[in-house]
Amino acid sequence: MRIRVTSGGGADGTLQVPGDKSIAHRWLILAATAKGPSRLVGLPSALDVRSTAACLAKVTVKPRPALDLWARNAASGVEGGGSTWNVTSRERSIDALEVEGEGRERVVEPSSELDCGNSGTTMRLLAGIAASARFRSRLVGDESLSTRPMERVAVPLRRMGAGVETTEGHAPITVSGGPLFGIEHRLDVSTAQVKSAILLAGLAAEGETAVTEPAPTRDHTERALEALGAPLRRRNTTVAVSRFQHAGFEATVPGDVSSAAFLLAVAALTGSGITIERVGLNPTRLGFLDVLARMGIDAETTQTAEQLGEPIGRLRVAPGARLRGTTVDGSELPAVIDEVPVLAVVAACAAGETRFLGAGELRVKESDRLTLIAEGIRGLGGHAAAEGDDLVVAGGGLRGGVASSGGDHRLAMAFAVAGAGADAPCEIDGMEAAAVSFPGFLAALGSTGISVEVLG
Ligand code: S3P
Repeated sequence: MRIRVTSGGGADGTLQVPGDKSIAHRWLILAATAKGPSRLVGLPSALDVRSTAACLAKVTVKPRPALDLWARNAASGVEGGGSTWNVTSRERSIDALEVEGEGRERVVEPSSELDCGNSGTTMRLLAGIAASARFRSRLVGDESLSTRPMERVAVPLRRMGAGVETTEGHAPITVSGGPLFGIEHRLDVSTAQVKSAILLAGLAAEGETAVTEPAPTRDHTERALEALGAPLRRRNTTVAVSRFQHAGFEATVPGDVSSAAFLLAVAALTGSGITIERVGLNPTRLGFLDVLARMGIDAETTQTAEQLGEPIGRLRVAPGARLRGTTVDGSELPAVIDEVPVLAVVAACAAGETRFLGAGELRVKESDRLTLIAEGIRGLGGHAAAEGDDLVVAGGGLRGGVASSGGDHRLAMAFAVAGAGADAPCEIDGMEAAAVSFPGFLAALGSTGISVEVLG
Protein backbone atom coordinates (compact mmCIF):
# COMPACT_ATOMS: atom_id res chain seq x y z
CA MET A 1 0.00 0.00 0.00
CA ARG A 2 1.27 3.45 -0.93
CA ILE A 3 0.09 6.56 0.87
CA ARG A 4 0.67 10.28 0.53
CA VAL A 5 0.89 12.44 3.64
CA THR A 6 0.62 16.19 3.39
CA SER A 7 1.36 18.49 6.27
CA GLY A 8 -1.26 20.83 7.72
CA GLY A 9 -3.57 20.71 10.69
CA GLY A 10 -2.15 19.31 13.87
CA ALA A 11 -5.04 20.51 16.02
CA ASP A 12 -4.70 19.90 19.73
CA GLY A 13 -6.59 16.73 20.54
CA THR A 14 -7.08 13.77 22.85
CA LEU A 15 -6.56 10.30 21.46
CA GLN A 16 -6.19 6.67 22.54
CA VAL A 17 -3.97 4.06 21.02
CA PRO A 18 -4.44 0.26 20.76
CA GLY A 19 -3.15 -2.00 23.52
CA ASP A 20 0.55 -2.47 24.17
CA LYS A 21 2.11 -5.15 22.00
CA SER A 22 4.93 -6.09 24.39
CA ILE A 23 2.55 -6.41 27.33
CA ALA A 24 -0.07 -8.28 25.30
CA HIS A 25 2.44 -11.00 24.26
CA ARG A 26 3.40 -11.57 27.89
CA TRP A 27 -0.09 -11.52 29.36
CA LEU A 28 -1.36 -13.90 26.68
CA ILE A 29 1.46 -16.33 27.45
CA LEU A 30 0.83 -16.00 31.18
CA ALA A 31 -2.94 -16.46 30.76
CA ALA A 32 -2.51 -19.57 28.57
CA THR A 33 -0.05 -21.14 31.03
CA ALA A 34 -1.92 -20.12 34.22
CA LYS A 35 -3.78 -22.59 36.35
CA GLY A 36 -7.33 -21.25 36.22
CA PRO A 37 -9.36 -18.71 34.30
CA SER A 38 -8.02 -15.39 33.04
CA ARG A 39 -9.74 -12.46 31.41
CA LEU A 40 -7.82 -10.05 29.20
CA VAL A 41 -9.42 -6.82 28.01
CA GLY A 42 -8.02 -4.45 25.40
CA LEU A 43 -5.68 -6.80 23.57
CA PRO A 44 -4.54 -5.12 20.35
CA SER A 45 -5.40 -6.92 17.13
CA ALA A 46 -1.81 -6.27 16.03
CA LEU A 47 -0.52 -9.03 13.74
CA ASP A 48 2.41 -9.79 16.07
CA VAL A 49 0.11 -10.38 19.02
CA ARG A 50 -2.15 -12.56 16.89
CA SER A 51 0.92 -14.66 16.04
CA THR A 52 1.47 -15.26 19.75
CA ALA A 53 -2.19 -16.19 20.30
CA ALA A 54 -2.16 -18.57 17.32
CA CYS A 55 0.98 -20.34 18.60
CA LEU A 56 -0.43 -20.59 22.12
CA ALA A 57 -3.62 -22.10 20.68
CA LYS A 58 -1.49 -24.92 19.26
CA VAL A 59 0.12 -25.82 22.56
CA THR A 60 -2.91 -25.64 24.87
CA VAL A 61 -6.18 -27.56 25.13
CA LYS A 62 -8.81 -25.60 27.04
CA PRO A 63 -7.66 -22.14 25.93
CA ARG A 64 -7.38 -23.29 22.30
CA PRO A 65 -10.79 -22.40 20.80
CA ALA A 66 -10.88 -18.86 22.10
CA LEU A 67 -7.21 -18.17 21.34
CA ASP A 68 -7.62 -19.58 17.87
CA LEU A 69 -10.64 -17.47 17.08
CA TRP A 70 -9.10 -14.34 18.55
CA ALA A 71 -5.91 -14.94 16.56
CA ARG A 72 -7.90 -15.14 13.35
CA ASN A 73 -9.64 -11.93 14.39
CA ALA A 74 -12.94 -13.66 13.77
CA ALA A 75 -15.94 -11.51 14.47
CA SER A 76 -18.13 -13.93 16.39
CA GLY A 77 -17.67 -14.90 19.99
CA VAL A 78 -16.77 -18.45 20.95
CA GLU A 79 -17.49 -20.62 23.92
CA GLY A 80 -15.86 -23.94 24.54
CA GLY A 81 -13.43 -25.72 26.78
CA GLY A 82 -13.99 -23.14 29.50
CA SER A 83 -12.75 -20.35 27.27
CA THR A 84 -14.64 -17.54 25.58
CA TRP A 85 -13.99 -14.58 23.42
CA ASN A 86 -16.78 -12.04 23.73
CA VAL A 87 -17.17 -9.13 21.42
CA THR A 88 -19.22 -6.72 23.43
CA SER A 89 -19.06 -3.68 21.18
CA ARG A 90 -19.28 -3.30 17.45
CA GLU A 91 -15.87 -1.63 17.32
CA ARG A 92 -14.42 -4.43 19.44
CA SER A 93 -12.97 -1.79 21.71
CA ILE A 94 -14.12 -3.60 24.82
CA ASP A 95 -13.52 -7.14 23.70
CA ALA A 96 -12.58 -9.58 26.41
CA LEU A 97 -10.64 -12.77 25.83
CA GLU A 98 -11.32 -15.38 28.48
CA VAL A 99 -9.09 -18.42 28.65
CA GLU A 100 -8.98 -21.17 31.19
CA GLY A 101 -5.38 -22.26 31.53
CA GLU A 102 -4.45 -25.69 32.85
CA GLY A 103 -0.98 -24.81 34.04
CA ARG A 104 2.47 -24.89 32.56
CA GLU A 105 2.74 -28.67 32.92
CA ARG A 106 -0.29 -29.19 30.69
CA VAL A 107 1.04 -27.56 27.52
CA VAL A 108 0.71 -30.04 24.68
CA GLU A 109 2.73 -30.98 21.64
CA PRO A 110 1.78 -28.82 18.65
CA SER A 111 0.51 -30.78 15.66
CA SER A 112 2.40 -28.48 13.28
CA GLU A 113 5.12 -25.85 13.41
CA LEU A 114 4.61 -22.68 15.44
CA ASP A 115 4.43 -19.78 13.00
CA CYS A 116 5.71 -16.64 14.73
CA GLY A 117 5.16 -14.47 11.63
CA ASN A 118 7.12 -11.23 11.88
CA SER A 119 7.37 -11.32 15.66
CA GLY A 120 10.72 -11.72 17.40
CA THR A 121 9.00 -11.45 20.78
CA THR A 122 6.74 -14.40 19.92
CA MET A 123 9.63 -16.60 18.86
CA ARG A 124 11.99 -15.81 21.72
CA LEU A 125 9.42 -15.87 24.52
CA LEU A 126 7.80 -19.07 23.26
CA ALA A 127 11.22 -20.69 23.06
CA GLY A 128 11.38 -20.10 26.83
CA ILE A 129 8.04 -21.89 27.29
CA ALA A 130 8.90 -24.73 24.89
CA ALA A 131 12.19 -25.30 26.72
CA SER A 132 10.43 -27.01 29.63
CA ALA A 133 7.86 -28.98 27.60
CA ARG A 134 8.53 -32.68 27.08
CA PHE A 135 8.32 -32.58 23.32
CA ARG A 136 9.89 -31.00 20.27
CA SER A 137 8.54 -27.80 18.79
CA ARG A 138 9.65 -26.12 15.62
CA LEU A 139 9.33 -22.35 15.51
CA VAL A 140 9.30 -20.62 12.15
CA GLY A 141 8.96 -17.02 11.03
CA ASP A 142 8.61 -14.85 7.95
CA GLU A 143 11.53 -13.75 5.79
CA SER A 144 12.47 -10.87 8.10
CA LEU A 145 12.26 -12.92 11.31
CA SER A 146 14.31 -15.69 9.68
CA THR A 147 17.28 -13.33 9.40
CA ARG A 148 17.28 -12.24 13.06
CA PRO A 149 19.73 -13.62 15.63
CA MET A 150 18.42 -16.61 17.62
CA GLU A 151 21.60 -17.97 19.23
CA ARG A 152 21.22 -15.25 21.87
CA VAL A 153 18.15 -17.09 23.18
CA ALA A 154 19.33 -20.61 22.29
CA VAL A 155 22.56 -20.37 24.34
CA PRO A 156 20.98 -19.74 27.77
CA LEU A 157 18.14 -22.23 27.17
CA ARG A 158 20.71 -24.90 26.28
CA ARG A 159 22.59 -24.05 29.47
CA MET A 160 19.36 -24.68 31.37
CA GLY A 161 19.05 -28.16 29.86
CA ALA A 162 16.88 -27.71 26.74
CA GLY A 163 17.91 -28.90 23.30
CA VAL A 164 17.78 -25.91 20.96
CA GLU A 165 18.83 -26.05 17.31
CA THR A 166 18.95 -22.93 15.21
CA THR A 167 19.39 -22.71 11.46
CA GLU A 168 22.87 -21.21 11.29
CA GLY A 169 21.94 -18.93 14.16
CA HIS A 170 18.51 -18.08 12.82
CA ALA A 171 14.96 -19.40 12.58
CA PRO A 172 13.61 -21.98 12.04
CA ILE A 173 14.54 -23.17 15.51
CA THR A 174 13.75 -26.53 17.05
CA VAL A 175 13.32 -26.74 20.80
CA SER A 176 13.47 -30.17 22.48
CA GLY A 177 12.19 -29.38 25.94
CA GLY A 178 12.61 -31.25 29.18
CA PRO A 179 13.58 -30.81 32.82
CA LEU A 180 15.41 -27.51 33.33
CA PHE A 181 17.76 -26.31 36.04
CA GLY A 182 18.42 -22.72 37.09
CA ILE A 183 21.47 -20.83 35.83
CA GLU A 184 23.12 -17.46 36.28
CA HIS A 185 23.25 -15.81 32.90
CA ARG A 186 24.89 -12.56 31.88
CA LEU A 187 23.56 -11.13 28.62
CA ASP A 188 26.06 -9.59 26.17
CA VAL A 189 23.35 -7.41 24.67
CA SER A 190 20.51 -5.74 26.57
CA THR A 191 17.41 -7.51 25.28
CA ALA A 192 14.09 -7.83 27.04
CA GLN A 193 13.06 -10.69 24.78
CA VAL A 194 15.94 -12.92 25.80
CA LYS A 195 15.69 -11.86 29.45
CA SER A 196 11.98 -12.77 29.38
CA ALA A 197 12.59 -16.11 27.67
CA ILE A 198 15.06 -17.06 30.40
CA LEU A 199 12.65 -15.96 33.15
CA LEU A 200 9.77 -17.91 31.61
CA ALA A 201 12.00 -20.98 31.42
CA GLY A 202 13.13 -20.29 35.00
CA LEU A 203 9.54 -20.55 36.25
CA ALA A 204 9.69 -24.24 35.35
CA ALA A 205 13.29 -24.90 36.38
CA GLU A 206 14.77 -26.50 39.44
CA GLY A 207 16.59 -23.94 41.60
CA GLU A 208 17.02 -20.25 40.96
CA THR A 209 17.49 -18.66 37.54
CA ALA A 210 19.20 -15.25 37.42
CA VAL A 211 19.68 -12.94 34.43
CA THR A 212 21.90 -9.87 34.35
CA GLU A 213 21.68 -7.38 31.51
CA PRO A 214 24.22 -4.68 30.66
CA ALA A 215 21.57 -1.91 30.83
CA PRO A 216 17.95 -2.05 31.98
CA THR A 217 15.35 -3.03 29.39
CA ARG A 218 11.54 -3.12 29.57
CA ASP A 219 10.42 -5.02 32.64
CA HIS A 220 6.88 -6.11 31.74
CA THR A 221 7.61 -9.77 32.45
CA GLU A 222 9.01 -8.97 35.89
CA ARG A 223 6.10 -6.70 36.82
CA ALA A 224 3.49 -9.26 35.76
CA LEU A 225 5.24 -12.07 37.62
CA GLU A 226 5.57 -9.95 40.76
CA ALA A 227 1.87 -9.06 40.57
CA LEU A 228 1.05 -12.76 40.22
CA GLY A 229 3.04 -13.56 43.35
CA ALA A 230 6.07 -15.24 41.76
CA PRO A 231 9.24 -15.47 43.87
CA LEU A 232 11.14 -12.81 41.96
CA ARG A 233 14.16 -10.89 43.18
CA ARG A 234 15.44 -7.75 41.52
CA ARG A 235 18.72 -6.03 42.21
CA ASN A 236 20.24 -3.42 39.89
CA THR A 237 20.15 -5.06 36.46
CA THR A 238 19.84 -8.61 37.79
CA VAL A 239 16.54 -10.42 38.12
CA ALA A 240 16.14 -13.88 39.58
CA VAL A 241 13.18 -16.22 39.69
CA SER A 242 12.40 -19.70 41.03
CA ARG A 243 9.91 -22.38 40.10
CA PHE A 244 6.36 -21.06 40.29
CA GLN A 245 2.94 -21.88 38.90
CA HIS A 246 0.76 -18.79 38.74
CA ALA A 247 -3.02 -18.65 38.92
CA GLY A 248 -5.32 -16.98 36.39
CA PHE A 249 -5.81 -13.21 36.46
CA GLU A 250 -7.88 -10.36 35.06
CA ALA A 251 -6.27 -7.34 33.49
CA THR A 252 -6.81 -4.56 30.95
CA VAL A 253 -3.94 -3.94 28.55
CA PRO A 254 -2.78 -0.29 28.58
CA GLY A 255 -2.37 1.65 25.34
CA ASP A 256 0.96 1.14 23.60
CA VAL A 257 3.24 4.06 24.40
CA SER A 258 5.45 3.11 21.45
CA SER A 259 2.42 3.63 19.19
CA ALA A 260 1.64 6.87 21.01
CA ALA A 261 5.18 8.05 20.18
CA PHE A 262 4.21 8.40 16.51
CA LEU A 263 1.31 10.71 17.38
CA LEU A 264 3.45 12.68 19.81
CA ALA A 265 5.93 13.14 16.99
CA VAL A 266 3.17 14.56 14.76
CA ALA A 267 2.43 17.09 17.51
CA ALA A 268 6.16 17.90 17.81
CA LEU A 269 6.48 18.41 14.06
CA THR A 270 3.39 20.58 13.75
CA GLY A 271 4.00 22.65 16.89
CA SER A 272 0.76 21.46 18.45
CA GLY A 273 -0.13 19.70 21.69
CA ILE A 274 -1.63 16.24 22.11
CA THR A 275 -3.01 14.12 24.94
CA ILE A 276 -3.01 10.32 24.91
CA GLU A 277 -5.32 8.69 27.45
CA ARG A 278 -5.03 5.25 29.11
CA VAL A 279 -1.53 4.63 27.84
CA GLY A 280 1.14 2.52 29.52
CA LEU A 281 3.54 4.64 31.58
CA ASN A 282 6.12 2.00 32.48
CA PRO A 283 9.33 4.03 33.01
CA THR A 284 11.39 1.48 31.05
CA ARG A 285 9.41 2.52 27.96
CA LEU A 286 9.53 6.30 28.41
CA GLY A 287 13.16 6.95 27.49
CA PHE A 288 12.07 8.67 24.28
CA LEU A 289 10.44 11.43 26.35
CA ASP A 290 13.88 12.38 27.71
CA VAL A 291 15.20 12.57 24.16
CA LEU A 292 12.23 14.69 23.06
CA ALA A 293 12.77 16.97 26.08
CA ARG A 294 16.36 17.60 24.95
CA MET A 295 14.96 18.39 21.50
CA GLY A 296 12.63 21.02 22.97
CA ILE A 297 9.40 19.04 23.49
CA ASP A 298 8.12 18.70 27.04
CA ALA A 299 5.79 15.90 28.09
CA GLU A 300 3.80 15.39 31.26
CA THR A 301 2.60 12.02 32.57
CA THR A 302 -0.18 11.44 35.08
CA GLN A 303 -0.81 7.96 36.41
CA THR A 304 -4.49 7.14 36.85
CA ALA A 305 -4.51 3.34 37.19
CA GLU A 306 -2.42 0.21 37.53
CA GLN A 307 -2.93 -3.22 35.95
CA LEU A 308 -0.82 -6.25 36.76
CA GLY A 309 1.98 -4.01 38.00
CA GLU A 310 1.85 -1.68 34.99
CA PRO A 311 1.26 2.06 35.55
CA ILE A 312 -1.37 3.51 33.21
CA GLY A 313 -2.43 7.10 32.66
CA ARG A 314 -2.34 10.26 30.60
CA LEU A 315 0.54 11.46 28.47
CA ARG A 316 0.42 15.09 27.41
CA VAL A 317 2.76 16.95 25.15
CA ALA A 318 2.51 20.73 25.17
CA PRO A 319 2.92 22.72 21.96
CA GLY A 320 6.66 22.93 21.50
CA ALA A 321 9.03 25.61 20.37
CA ARG A 322 11.80 25.16 17.82
CA LEU A 323 13.16 21.62 17.65
CA ARG A 324 16.90 21.15 18.16
CA GLY A 325 19.23 18.20 17.62
CA THR A 326 20.67 16.03 20.40
CA THR A 327 22.92 13.04 21.04
CA VAL A 328 21.53 9.67 22.12
CA ASP A 329 24.31 7.73 23.75
CA GLY A 330 24.72 3.94 23.42
CA SER A 331 23.85 3.50 27.10
CA GLU A 332 20.51 5.24 26.54
CA LEU A 333 19.63 3.13 23.52
CA PRO A 334 17.87 0.15 25.18
CA ALA A 335 15.38 2.65 26.68
CA VAL A 336 14.50 4.12 23.26
CA ILE A 337 15.17 1.14 21.02
CA ASP A 338 11.76 1.05 19.31
CA GLU A 339 11.45 4.83 19.06
CA VAL A 340 14.67 5.49 17.14
CA PRO A 341 12.90 5.52 13.73
CA VAL A 342 10.41 8.19 14.76
CA LEU A 343 12.97 10.17 16.78
CA ALA A 344 15.21 10.19 13.70
CA VAL A 345 12.39 11.67 11.64
CA VAL A 346 11.79 14.38 14.26
CA ALA A 347 15.56 14.98 14.26
CA ALA A 348 15.52 15.45 10.48
CA CYS A 349 13.21 18.45 11.02
CA ALA A 350 15.20 19.90 13.93
CA ALA A 351 17.89 22.54 13.84
CA GLY A 352 21.33 20.93 14.09
CA GLU A 353 22.63 17.38 13.99
CA THR A 354 21.34 14.39 15.98
CA ARG A 355 23.49 11.34 16.64
CA PHE A 356 22.35 7.90 17.79
CA LEU A 357 25.59 6.31 18.98
CA GLY A 358 26.34 2.60 19.30
CA ALA A 359 23.06 1.66 17.68
CA GLY A 360 24.21 -1.64 16.08
CA GLU A 361 21.21 -3.49 17.56
CA LEU A 362 19.04 -1.58 15.09
CA ARG A 363 20.55 -3.66 12.32
CA VAL A 364 18.87 -6.82 13.67
CA LYS A 365 15.33 -5.54 14.18
CA GLU A 366 12.45 -6.19 11.76
CA SER A 367 14.81 -4.72 9.14
CA ASP A 368 18.30 -3.23 9.14
CA ARG A 369 16.88 -0.07 10.62
CA LEU A 370 20.23 1.69 10.79
CA THR A 371 20.54 1.58 7.01
CA LEU A 372 16.87 1.95 6.12
CA ILE A 373 16.15 4.93 8.41
CA ALA A 374 18.99 6.84 6.77
CA GLU A 375 17.83 5.81 3.28
CA GLY A 376 14.23 6.76 4.04
CA ILE A 377 15.15 10.19 5.40
CA ARG A 378 17.22 10.85 2.31
CA GLY A 379 14.32 9.73 0.12
CA LEU A 380 12.09 12.22 1.91
CA GLY A 381 14.46 15.07 1.16
CA GLY A 382 16.62 15.11 4.29
CA HIS A 383 20.19 14.22 5.15
CA ALA A 384 21.11 11.15 7.20
CA ALA A 385 23.76 8.44 7.15
CA ALA A 386 24.64 5.21 8.92
CA GLU A 387 28.27 5.52 9.99
CA GLY A 388 29.44 2.21 11.43
CA ASP A 389 27.08 1.60 14.33
CA ASP A 390 26.02 5.24 14.56
CA LEU A 391 23.08 6.94 12.89
CA VAL A 392 23.70 10.57 12.04
CA VAL A 393 20.77 12.80 11.08
CA ALA A 394 21.71 16.23 9.78
CA GLY A 395 18.54 18.15 10.65
CA GLY A 396 17.42 21.23 8.79
CA GLY A 397 14.12 19.89 7.43
CA LEU A 398 12.63 17.50 4.90
CA ARG A 399 11.78 18.61 1.37
CA GLY A 400 9.33 15.76 0.74
CA GLY A 401 9.71 12.72 -1.51
CA VAL A 402 9.28 8.97 -1.42
CA ALA A 403 10.38 6.34 1.12
CA SER A 404 9.78 2.63 1.54
CA SER A 405 9.01 0.81 4.78
CA GLY A 406 11.08 -2.20 3.67
CA GLY A 407 8.25 -4.21 5.25
CA ASP A 408 9.10 -2.81 8.71
CA HIS A 409 6.12 -1.49 10.67
CA ARG A 410 7.99 1.15 12.62
CA LEU A 411 9.68 2.51 9.51
CA ALA A 412 6.32 2.71 7.70
CA MET A 413 4.85 4.76 10.54
CA ALA A 414 7.92 6.93 11.12
CA PHE A 415 8.10 7.88 7.43
CA ALA A 416 4.34 8.59 7.36
CA VAL A 417 4.81 10.92 10.35
CA ALA A 418 7.57 12.69 8.41
CA GLY A 419 4.84 13.99 6.12
CA ALA A 420 3.58 16.11 9.02
CA GLY A 421 6.83 18.05 9.16
CA ALA A 422 8.01 18.07 5.55
CA ASP A 423 7.79 21.07 3.20
CA ALA A 424 6.09 18.98 0.47
CA PRO A 425 4.06 15.72 0.44
CA CYS A 426 5.74 12.47 1.47
CA GLU A 427 4.80 9.19 -0.21
CA ILE A 428 5.35 5.94 1.65
CA ASP A 429 5.44 2.48 0.11
CA GLY A 430 4.72 -0.66 2.12
CA MET A 431 2.37 1.10 4.54
CA GLU A 432 0.45 -2.12 5.25
CA ALA A 433 3.30 -3.13 7.59
CA ALA A 434 1.85 -0.79 10.26
CA ALA A 435 -0.72 -3.50 11.11
CA VAL A 436 2.08 -5.48 12.78
CA SER A 437 1.88 -3.24 15.85
CA PHE A 438 -0.63 -0.40 15.35
CA PRO A 439 -3.96 -1.44 13.83
CA GLY A 440 -5.81 1.71 12.77
CA PHE A 441 -2.64 3.79 12.46
CA LEU A 442 -3.75 5.68 9.35
CA ALA A 443 -7.05 6.67 10.93
CA ALA A 444 -5.20 7.84 14.06
CA LEU A 445 -2.77 9.81 11.90
CA GLY A 446 -5.66 11.38 10.00
CA SER A 447 -7.34 12.37 13.24
CA THR A 448 -4.38 14.58 14.14
CA GLY A 449 -5.47 16.82 11.27
CA ILE A 450 -2.86 16.01 8.64
CA SER A 451 -4.00 14.78 5.24
CA VAL A 452 -3.51 11.06 4.48
CA GLU A 453 -4.42 9.69 1.03
CA VAL A 454 -4.23 6.02 0.11
CA LEU A 455 -2.80 5.85 -3.43
CA GLY A 456 -3.23 2.10 -3.93
C1 S3P B 1 10.57 -6.32 22.95
C2 S3P B 1 11.90 -6.09 23.19
C3 S3P B 1 12.76 -5.34 22.27
C4 S3P B 1 11.94 -4.48 21.33
C5 S3P B 1 10.82 -5.25 20.71
C6 S3P B 1 9.87 -5.77 21.78
C7 S3P B 1 9.81 -7.12 23.92
O1 S3P B 1 13.52 -6.25 21.50
O2 S3P B 1 12.76 -3.93 20.33
O3 S3P B 1 10.08 -4.43 19.83
O4 S3P B 1 8.57 -7.15 23.85
O5 S3P B 1 10.45 -7.75 24.77
P1 S3P B 1 14.93 -6.85 22.01
O6 S3P B 1 14.66 -7.69 23.20
O7 S3P B 1 15.46 -7.64 20.86
O8 S3P B 1 15.78 -5.65 22.31
